[in-house]
Amino acid sequence: MRQRKKRNLDKRLDAASHLLVEHPEQQKGQWRALFEAPPEAKLMVELGCGKGTFVCESARREPDALFIAFDKVPEVLVMAVEKAIREGLTNVRFVLGDAALLEEFFEPGEFDRLYINFCDPWHKSRQAKRRLTHRNFLASYLRLLGVGGQIHFKTDNRRLFDFSVEEFEACHYAISELTYDLHATPAPWNIVTEYERTWSEKGYPINRLVATVTDETAPAPPRKKRASEAAAELSQKEEQPFPGDGQAEQM
Ligand SMILES: C[S@@+](CC[C@H](N)C(=O)[O-])C[C@H]1O[C@@H](n2cnc3c(N)ncnc32)[C@H](O)[C@@H]1O
Repeated sequence: MRQRKKRNLDKRLDAASHLLVEHPEQQKGQWRALFEAPPEAKLMVELGCGKGTFVCESARREPDALFIAFDKVPEVLVMAVEKAIREGLTNVRFVLGDAALLEEFFEPGEFDRLYINFCDPWHKSRQAKRRLTHRNFLASYLRLLGVGGQIHFKTDNRRLFDFSVEEFEACHYAISELTYDLHATPAPWNIVTEYERTWSEKGYPINRLVATVTDETAPAPPRKKRASEAAAELSQKEEQPFPGDGQAEQM
């Protein structure tokens, strides 16, 4: 049964191969050429694109921009690629790969914007380094974005959001458009992702910010465990889910 499922997935990936980049390391420094686009074309990257709702709608709204979407789960990524094919999009490509490897795939300053939508919260503090907004990731993104580059970040998880604000500040990104309730006022420009729809319908407010790389942005020193985190570990409180924690992993 498992074998049949795998064969079916392989077939679907094969059928979608024209929008899948199998060797992203070979595109390093060449992504715009892959689209036959001019050097000034805006290049946007999404990490953890899920089923592709956000990247496909972004590509539709901005036909002159180029989009590269990453997800590490093939069963999910294939749905995103199939969606782009159904919608006839030509300005988006997909990579089955881990966000941790971005520096192997892009030259410094190669892309303009990074989208991180509803990344896994990794709620235990000993897992903090896996959060895509941990300072180690932020140091890597700043090299790849260059001055003026932006990270657009959304999450329903308030604890992850507060952690992320601290991390962006520690690296001296310029934070703007910060909101703890994105849906409180009409925002027709906002593209609602799959997780955003699910969790906002359950009543969770959506947090969002934009972090811009400036001349001041720089890698931050290693993160020191805060007293509250250490205390949480000692009392094992962290094992108890905080509202919003672990949602990403549950879906
Ligand atoms: C919680 S879901 C959010 C999906 C989508 N962005 C949304 O908002 O609906 C997180 C997605 O990120 C992917 N993901 C998690 N860690 C990743 C990593 N290190 N590299 C690439 N994708 C990752 C997961 O496979 C999953 O599809």
